Amino acid sequence: MSVVPNRGDGKITVPDLLQRKSVSGLHSISKKITCLTAYDYPTARLVDEAGVDVILVGDSLGMVVLGHESTLPVTLEDMLHHTRAVRRGARRALVVADMPFGSYHTDTSESLRNAVRFVKEAGAEAVKVEGGERRLELIARLTEAEIPVMGHVGLTPQSLNALGGYRVQGKTPNAAEQLLRDARAVEASGAFAVVLEAVPRELAAKITADLRIPTIGIGAGPDCDGQVLVLHDMLGLTFSPLPKFARQYADVSKVISQAVREYCADVRAGMFPSDAESYHAVPTTKEEKEAPVNIDGDW
Ligand code: KIV
Repeated sequence: MSVVPNRGDGKITVPDLLQRKSVSGLHSISKKITCLTAYDYPTARLVDEAGVDVILVGDSLGMVVLGHESTLPVTLEDMLHHTRAVRRGARRALVVADMPFGSYHTDTSESLRNAVRFVKEAGAEAVKVEGGERRLELIARLTEAEIPVMGHVGLTPQSLNALGGYRVQGKTPNAAEQLLRDARAVEASGAFAVVLEAVPRELAAKITADLRIPTIGIGAGPDCDGQVLVLHDMLGLTFSPLPKFARQYADVSKVISQAVREYCADVRAGMFPSDAESYHAVPTTKEEKEAPVNIDGDW
């Protein structure tokens, strides 16, 4: 079978994203890669239909959806479950699933088996793993097994205990050098893109210029080839203070709270449901007689 980078139906593929790598900073705005997280069917549908290129089923799920304090408790089964739901809602965007902490940290064969489950059982089109040089062998093994891999360097939330907190990475010359080596290792091992999280803008720009694969920034400034945000952060659906890079585009929590308050008030006042929202024993009006019959036989 020949390689078709663009399937012609608008579906975003891994080769499409590789083609959108900026050439020495000459990046037209339209080529920038847009990525958002989603964790379930409705958010996947909304994000997909609004035109995002990549949907990341992030293990941020643990914090923004499951209420954990970090991403560390998220299990493989949690991620598979939510990836399946996202897959059902996404038609155009590339679906990338985060491999959770512990699912790729033991031996390579088990990590490969876990990655295969994301593709085979959950419909992911790629997986993401955190870490740079120390993931060389793993990323190479997964790519060899035809599983596209997105890398993730800089602030890697699964390293919370080792890093001692969520901090900007690569600020000193030595740390910046190590980060560049990490990003190069991710590219050399065969990854098709790399997330740069919480790194100085200048370093992100340098890494972006250095690599042949696209960089997707989060808290890494505007010079990356694409951007990613956690959906719940940008919608105002998180309860903790946001980092400064997480621009809030809407306040959905306000909309939900207001709707719930109105519903409770209506129920308490006997205003919901109305007669029009109720079923009736026999059709009385012309409209009721002509109304389509529900599957349970009610009008
Ligand atoms: O889990 C996640 O949402 C992520 C993004 C922040 C890149 O890894």
